[in-house]
Amino acid sequence: MIHPEIEKRKTFAIISHPDAGKTTLTEKFLLFGGAINTAGAVKRNKANQSNTSDFMEIEKQRGISVATSVMGFEYANKRINILDTPGHKDFAEDTYRTLSAVDSVILVVDCVKGVEEQTEKLMSVCRMRNTPVIIFINKMDREGKDAFDLLDEIEHKLNISLCPLSWPIGQGHTFKGVYSIYNKHLNLFEPDKTKISEPVIEVNDLNDDNLTKFLKPKELEGLKGDLELVHGVYGDLDKSMYIEGLLAPVFFGSAINNFGIKELLDTFINIAPSPKGREAEQREVAAEEKNFSGFVFKIHANLDPKHRDRIAFLRICSGKFERNKFYYHTRQDKKLKFSNPMDFMANEKSIVEEAWPGDVVGLYDSGNFKIGDTLTEGEKLQFKGIPSFSPEIFKELENRDPLKTKQLEKGIQQLTEEGVAQLFTMQPGNRKVVGAVGELQFEVIAFRLEHEYGAKAAFRMLSYTRSNWVTSKDKTKLAEFLKRKQQHIGEDKDGNPVYLADNEFMINMTMRDYPDIEFHKTSEFK
Ligand code: G4P
Repeated sequence: MIHPEIEKRKTFAIISHPDAGKTTLTEKFLLFGGAINTAGAVKRNKANQSNTSDFMEIEKQRGISVATSVMGFEYANKRINILDTPGHKDFAEDTYRTLSAVDSVILVVDCVKGVEEQTEKLMSVCRMRNTPVIIFINKMDREGKDAFDLLDEIEHKLNISLCPLSWPIGQGHTFKGVYSIYNKHLNLFEPDKTKISEPVIEVNDLNDDNLTKFLKPKELEGLKGDLELVHGVYGDLDKSMYIEGLLAPVFFGSAINNFGIKELLDTFINIAPSPKGREAEQREVAAEEKNFSGFVFKIHANLDPKHRDRIAFLRICSGKFERNKFYYHTRQDKKLKFSNPMDFMANEKSIVEEAWPGDVVGLYDSGNFKIGDTLTEGEKLQFKGIPSFSPEIFKELENRDPLKTKQLEKGIQQLTEEGVAQLFTMQPGNRKVVGAVGELQFEVIAFRLEHEYGAKAAFRMLSYTRSNWVTSKDKTKLAEFLKRKQQHIGEDKDGNPVYLADNEFMINMTMRDYPDIEFHKTSEFK
């Protein structure tokens, strides 16, 4: 039997293309959970998406994003943990890592815009891990695409089977409400941003008198026709397919108007999976195991520049985490104890005495942790699932103040350990090359190096656009390759050799010339 503390936990992320309504939906969930009292209480953790010069804004928001990184609350005897993901595309890797720490996701789609670029990218990440996905089609108060067309688009672009659990009646100015296929009731839409209850009319079947009372004959006829088609095309919910990440239940609503949210939340806690086991390099670790284990998926710099402390976010995978108990840091081969582990309830932090699988605790860290580090009760484990990907922009770090060399070294080391970007060391001369997905990350690094470490840095653009981790079964051949290509070889944070190339063509050529060398697109190739 699953331990009740594990069973009651639901750890998930809400993801969307910017502006589809992720922040609004998160806030409404917290409202329903009673974690906050008024809309607007969750400070916005989003930056202007349109340009790259708004890193100052991101800096400001780092202040609140520690609090909003995890938002826990109790609802219907469940402990719900929402993990926040950055909206900006330049921080895609951060989002990827956060998704390694959840058990399911809710994907928000704007009914006017349909499937957007980021929606596709995020979904492909979920597909890689078979993460169960629920889709919430938002902004039904606006004139959007036809519901059937939207489902077609989602199914094809996101490559997943769907199963609508609610169905809209009208849309935009004719939007009347949704019929819950799952719970067999009618939710009538009232445009109201403040109310948190929804008028729900229970119905037995589609011939129920209640429906004729609230819907015009034409609306009712339309609904019946639609539902017949929906049932014929999509059938009933196959829960095991949802849990395996092969089928996504779909809901319709309007987050800003609190509409369809309770329905979504109630169904979510019913069908979403409780904390699952995780794969370590050595073996599969089940959530129910007695011994504690967990991994760090995010590191956040402390905001106070006078203190270099950081907060490492640890996802508990198995057993029970306890305050003031010694745990084994498997990479560093040493024992650590945490006297002030943090729990995140809504947007408040407090010291936590114990935590269970699915929970995320914040650990004050003075430099012990890197992303991906594993803690256990003594077993040598390394959790999988947090690889680095090839960056797209590579720049050499240049020191602009020789008196601050040490600060620069320490700063770039720590920032890259936080996962802001990747660091490659190149020879000769121990040159430091920073690799990132977007320009914004370089701006953030330069700004933080100056303001937190007192170092002055500049970046020199390099022509590389790809990095491949290289290995070989033949050690001599690998050594020979590394020597031949020395000027294009960097060492990653763990000392692994990486081959940097200008484009895919170069990589293919090199692959052809060196058949004994294996090229890997991510750092997790074992
Ligand atoms: P994001 O986190 O995914 O980026 O989206 P966010 O919740 O910030 O929502 C983006 C915009 O969409 C916001 O408007 C928000 O009010 C609006 N919105 C969210 N849900 C709905 C909905 O159901 N219907 C309609 N019509 N709009 C919705 P904004 O003008 O950008 O911001 P604000 O001034 O309202 O804060």
